Amino acid sequence: MKVSLLDLIISLSDVMDMISPALNGHHRRVAHVSYMIGQKMGLTTERLSNLFITALLHDCGGISLKERLDALQFDIINPFIHSEIGYRLLSGYEPLKIPALIIRYHHVYWNETSRYAAKKEYDIPLESYILNLSDRVDVLVNKKSEIIGQSMYIKEKIISESGKKFMPDVVDAFAEVSKPISFWLDIINVEKSCIIQENNIEDTILDENSIFSAMELIRRIIDFRSGFTATHSSGVASVAEQIGKCAGLGKGEQNKLKIAGCLHDLGKLAAPVEILEKPGK
Ligand SMILES: [Fe+2]
Ligand SMILES: [Fe+2]
Repeated sequence: MKVSLLDLIISLSDVMDMISPALNGHHRRVAHVSYMIGQKMGLTTERLSNLFITALLHDCGGISLKERLDALQFDIINPFIHSEIGYRLLSGYEPLKIPALIIRYHHVYWNETSRYAAKKEYDIPLESYILNLSDRVDVLVNKKSEIIGQSMYIKEKIISESGKKFMPDVVDAFAEVSKPISFWLDIINVEKSCIIQENNIEDTILDENSIFSAMELIRRIIDFRSGFTATHSSGVASVAEQIGKCAGLGKGEQNKLKIAGCLHDLGKLAAPVEILEKPGK
């Protein structure tokens, strides 16, 4: 069995955005804008790949619907909880160690850098500033209105924060890449535009041995959503595997059962935690 890590991440990303129509496609749009800016700034293919993957997962630490919707405000209040949770969820999985670090700082504004620079352990990656600006571009887009008419306002709003909220070099790159109308049209047709970028991403093909650590990551993200079911998926995976063994299934089939056990509650990511933990449920 061989599985593309990028395919897994895209699926995870899409499911997380199904939690509300207001969030539909948010991760993909931010990935698209981040990629365009990173490319303009001359990032290597490896860094661009990590940036794209990071953007697809950047709000994975936003557990409640309220938290996700609050993050859609341009002047977001207290965004550091979901940034830290995202970091902690992803950093235990070796292939996502760099994305985890980028996510940790994805809401640090440029003019807050000195506060972090004072401590050596807080070295903020350039990619966090790119992700921050790209995220703010998407929250400024009114999805109910046509895009070209808003583009000038969004550009002016972002450029006016150069050297304040946003890193000047990142703003300059954004100002350049957002000149063609196609940039804005690609934002609203993001599934199509992402396909082109996905083809340029350095993907990891997971084999039988490495697939379980990826499943463990996804399971952790799913189970973390509710304190009542914190180890539920891993329990289901183990029991399903053991029943398969007792029923005489081969190792390959047992592995499939274990994977299915890890993923069986994937739909929980699309359900608000306010519903999952509703008293009396
Ligand atoms: Fe965020
Ligand atoms: Fe976001």
